[in-house]
Amino acid sequence: MIEINEVTKRFQDKKKYVTALKHVSFTVEEGEVVGLLGENGAGKTTLLRAIATLLHPTDGTIKVAGYDTVKQPNDIKKKIGVLFGGETGLYDRLTARENLEYFASLYNLSKHETKVRIDELTKMFGMRDYLDRKVDGFSKGMRQKLAISRTLIHEPDIILFDEPTTGLDITAANVFRQLVHQLKQQGKTIIFSSHIMEEVQMLCDSVAMIHKGELIYHGNIEKLYEEENNEDLNYIFMSKLVRGGSDYVS
Ligand SMILES: Nc1ncnc2c1ncn2[C@@H]1O[C@H](COP(=O)(O)OP(=O)(O)O)[C@@H](O)[C@H]1O
Ligand SMILES: [Mg+2]
Repeated sequence: MIEINEVTKRFQDKKKYVTALKHVSFTVEEGEVVGLLGENGAGKTTLLRAIATLLHPTDGTIKVAGYDTVKQPNDIKKKIGVLFGGETGLYDRLTARENLEYFASLYNLSKHETKVRIDELTKMFGMRDYLDRKVDGFSKGMRQKLAISRTLIHEPDIILFDEPTTGLDITAANVFRQLVHQLKQQGKTIIFSSHIMEEVQMLCDSVAMIHKGELIYHGNIEKLYEEENNEDLNYIFMSKLVRGGSDYVS
């Protein structure tokens, strides 16, 4: 479970303050898949980084599996897998297997555990053909599979993906979508940010919509459709901005 409680984050950019998150509160239950929706600059990455213990809220608290992100980051790091858009964290000069072995060592997996886990992930992603090839020269899709594999090497219960399909071709994006299905079936808790409404519609139990640092909606997607008497997430998002008043519309 992830409990986000009144989180505010201010950055100091030169002499100006930027408030990236304003009193954001919501809870993610175990096994829930949540889509984090918002325009560029809305605060999605900031929120995910705060959940991942990579930055401290200016105000408010976040608990992941009962642990506080500021006070107990190490307990949290073992339980989460994180993939931030663009940063695959892979080493081009190593083979896919060597990359996975390296990340396994960061989590203190034994030799045997590492081997078993690499076998599982290779099967899951169909990476057998290129497991022992150097990453340099891999296609975007191959890199994406490997990057996701390294995110999952220590079998985290909670997985955070920041814009996982941005910049991918359709095939690679579909690989990601299929994988989320699989992980959901295994009971994983997943939050991923996206500005692709169809993707969120397809994969998520619930949505969190952020606009200019404020949470404008959080809840079950089906319920949202019922409340709005509409099943077009894009339309709902836009109309929420309009209804929120002039502050919301840029
Ligand atoms: N390290 C930082 N220093 C200053 N401002 C930042 C920093 N990180 C993010 N911001 C600002 O916070 C706001 C939210 O950014 P971000 O969380 O990256 O949005 P999103 O991921 O939704 O596009 C933006 O105005 C951005 O410029
Ligand atoms: Mg972002």
